[in-house]
Amino acid sequence: MQPIELLRELSDAFGVSGFEDEVREVLRARVAPFVDDVSVDTLGNLIAVRHGKDKRVMMLDAHMDEVGFLVKWVDDKGYVRFAPIGGWDERIVPGHRVVLVTRNGEKRFGVIGCAPPHILSEEERHKPIPMEKMFVDFGATSRQEATDLGIQIGDPFTIHYPFGPLCEGYVTGKALDDRAGCAVLVEAARRLADRKPSLTLAFAFVFGEEVGLRGAKTAAFHLDPSIALAVEGTIGADMPGVPEESQPTRLGRGPAISVADRSIIVSPKVVRALERVADAESIPYQYKLPTYGGTDAGSIHLSRGGVLTGIVSVPCRFIHSPVSTLRLNDFENTIRLVTSFVRTLPGDLL
Ligand code: CO
Repeated sequence: MQPIELLRELSDAFGVSGFEDEVREVLRARVAPFVDDVSVDTLGNLIAVRHGKDKRVMMLDAHMDEVGFLVKWVDDKGYVRFAPIGGWDERIVPGHRVVLVTRNGEKRFGVIGCAPPHILSEEERHKPIPMEKMFVDFGATSRQEATDLGIQIGDPFTIHYPFGPLCEGYVTGKALDDRAGCAVLVEAARRLADRKPSLTLAFAFVFGEEVGLRGAKTAAFHLDPSIALAVEGTIGADMPGVPEESQPTRLGRGPAISVADRSIIVSPKVVRALERVADAESIPYQYKLPTYGGTDAGSIHLSRGGVLTGIVSVPCRFIHSPVSTLRLNDFENTIRLVTSFVRTLPGDLL
């Protein structure tokens, strides 16, 4: 499978935090041919292990979940009220198509509606709508009809636009944070499959990053790694109105190596090792400017007695919005950096 097709399959899959089943099944099928063992833990992390010459573990983390919403109320006219899961900017939520997954695993489509401008007052038109005032129209005309559609309190849904190309080498899709990271790890597993790695590799596709780095915490405790790398789809902000010094990453400049974010100050040893690997392989890279966002590395490095943990990200524009974009050359160079890092495994890190 071409890496772009993998990205498409993962971006289109449903995986609101805590409801990552569809993403997990895609990943399980795609990674299984390249590892020795695949398992799912109690809370839903997918762990794919490739045995190395050494029993010590290198954990390679990407989160499966995406931001979304939960149904919190269905009113007597069939409209659905909702609660956010993960960090949304409520100004950009109204006016989008959504997909909901029912308890039976069926999909229902709706739209986050809002009153038309014609009937709004001057003041209302210039103010964002608070999320608790928003609603989803699934086409039901009563609570009973919504129930008949299988829609119930607690059901997850998210804004959905299909994956696709924009222009040569530039793609758009939902949830590139962090399906880009998931795709990087599957492709890295494929490229690393030709020979036995020195350390045992544990690819951890974890749940619940968007609600507090949750899956990474239990996965890291369980795996007890000697070293770890979190792979993210991170904030690309090279766009109008954002000064250069406030752009965490820029598209087209290669993978972003994190120095620090809100969840971790990366050990300089790990940053230097990533730089050395990139330089040796002539892989372009940039730094993710401190200290925007948090990552699974925040949970992993604090596990047990502490874990040396690095972060490498694919720059993605418009994350935590209905659509995100990335440059395929950044995606490819992130795969190269992760693969080279695993192969080289800088000795001074262990
Ligand atoms: Co993320």
